[in-house]
Amino acid sequence: MNNTKLIDFLGQKHTLSQEQYRELLTTATAEDDTYLHKAARAACEKVYGKRIFYRGLIEISNICKNDCYYCGIRRSNTACERYRLSQQQILSCCEEGYKLGFRTFVLQGGEDGFFTDNLLCEIISKIKRSYSDCAVTLSLGERSKESYRQLKEAGADRYLLRHETIDPTHYGQLHPRQMKHENRLACLQALRECGYQVGCGFMVGSPGQDVGMLVKELMFIEKFRPEMCGIGPFIPHKDTPFGQQKAGSVTLTLRLLSCIRLICPDILLPATTALASLSEDGRIKGIEAGANVVMPNLSPSDVREKYTLYNNKAYAGHESAQQVQQLQQLMQSAGFLLSCERGDIERKM
Ligand code: 5AD
Repeated sequence: MNNTKLIDFLGQKHTLSQEQYRELLTTATAEDDTYLHKAARAACEKVYGKRIFYRGLIEISNICKNDCYYCGIRRSNTACERYRLSQQQILSCCEEGYKLGFRTFVLQGGEDGFFTDNLLCEIISKIKRSYSDCAVTLSLGERSKESYRQLKEAGADRYLLRHETIDPTHYGQLHPRQMKHENRLACLQALRECGYQVGCGFMVGSPGQDVGMLVKELMFIEKFRPEMCGIGPFIPHKDTPFGQQKAGSVTLTLRLLSCIRLICPDILLPATTALASLSEDGRIKGIEAGANVVMPNLSPSDVREKYTLYNNKAYAGHESAQQVQQLQQLMQSAGFLLSCERGDIERKM
């Protein structure tokens, strides 16, 4: 089959063989990509129409017990100025966000032991009490199943935990020995069993990644059928062991976004900050390739630049929650509609 046929097949059957995925990922031309992005956009619009959902990202802490080789807030990075938001600050972010029209708050942070189950449950319940029409998404790394259960009970709706790579050996090249690939995947399973809408995800172009691994990522998405999936290009951070590595490819990231959309037409797929950071119109390109979620930053402005996972992160402009109106206009002029709904997954089965 040629690539056009492969793309049509993927759109109809939501699956390809390992060899076919490899063929598509390695041999797609610029014309194939245009065709692929169009097919993915159409698949998205069949479920969600022109709606793009926006989520307020609140970066609650950059203190992290982990030492991931790629990440700017890794424990060993002494150049990183650490902060954590108080409960009051987090609630103020929500208050401001609510006024701006946000109906999902994403609490994201490093694995910071200060945020115990009790504290998080208190924060989540308060958010849900004040804004009962809002969804709360957590992105706080690996915790115990019991912890996930309690946070769900307190009102959390969704959980994002990127698995980073589906290949166990590759996982070992990206993380110190203490971090276990099995545990990462067990966490995703536990989250699902607790009733969350679950998001997994991976970086594109992280050191040591090859196309065979990307093929396996797509096959994993087929099997796991996550409600959400966060993917973005790897971007080096100078104060990490990977500081001299090269960034991932925007073209390949867009190609993978489209494949994921065709595999799971109803998935919630963000055009990530990493994509927007590497390419001027990365957000729009992501959406044109099948993404349907954007996550502007709602963190207090003085901490934003401290939450630096990689260098040259886009903070201002459309990444900033204060500029939803501009974002709205940008979307409109590109033919999309920034939706003020909670934006849960619209899955038929
Ligand atoms: N480049 C791109 N993405 C990164 N992340 C962490 N460090 C980097 C980097 N250098 C991503 C990881 C993590 C998410 C919060 O940010 O995938 O799960």
